[in-house]
Amino acid sequence: ENFFKKDLILSGKKILISAGPTYEAIDPVRFIGNHSSGKMGFELAKMAEKLGAEVTLVAGPTHQSVDGYNIKRMDVTSALSMLEAIESVYEAQDIVIMAAAVADYRPAEIADQKIKKNSDKMTIEMVKNPDILKHLGTKKGNKMLVGFALETNDAIKHAKGKLERKNADLIVLNTLEDEDAGFGVETNKVTFITADKEPLSFPLKSKTEVAKDILTFIAQNLKTNA
Ligand code: CTP
Ligand code: CA
Repeated sequence: ENFFKKDLILSGKKILISAGPTYEAIDPVRFIGNHSSGKMGFELAKMAEKLGAEVTLVAGPTHQSVDGYNIKRMDVTSALSMLEAIESVYEAQDIVIMAAAVADYRPAEIADQKIKKNSDKMTIEMVKNPDILKHLGTKKGNKMLVGFALETNDAIKHAKGKLERKNADLIVLNTLEDEDAGFGVETNKVTFITADKEPLSFPLKSKTEVAKDILTFIAQNLKTNA
């Protein structure tokens, strides 16, 4: 079906990409979220398809859109629902990129009814969400596992720690030395962190170009070349 794409660098590869924030419900009308736009993950999905891959895009709440014959989109809301969606398709993948900004915590309980403002202070107890990437790293097989990291201090050291803790093959570190890198902007400045190579730093680029750099690196470092 995809014969005309057989010479592309990701031809025949199955790739799962998560994108966007997660929303953690407090009550039927409120949630705790974050400012992730989903842009980086969607650019990765579009570029992966262009490069010949069969793409599954697991997206948190976002205004991004995508179409493409070889992009299957699964919409999710919370970290737990993202985990469930990813689990349902994980086994078949060759490459998994966790570009989503997964909430680290969720409210311990979701109120059945809208919470009323009947006291001067209120506290929401939070419990830890599962670390999706770390969980996937425990059953990686021959898959290539990629995570992102955004750090404000000791960036390389922290990113290396994440690489090891999560059993990932690559951490894409967003370097914040530039005003224009990170959430809600069109550009990113990234450094690739791997176990066996020196950190590889790129100049400030559009997220489309960053997506191409990431996917090119992945294609060159795939363990399976079946
Ligand atoms: N990640 C995940 N599940 C979580 C939290 C993070 O899969 N519950 C993934 C992210 O998608 C990202 C990578 O782990 O690819 C690193 O996320 P980051 O927030 O930088 O790291 P944490 O392990 O959450 O550590 P901290 O926030 O304390 O720096
Ligand atoms: Ca986190």
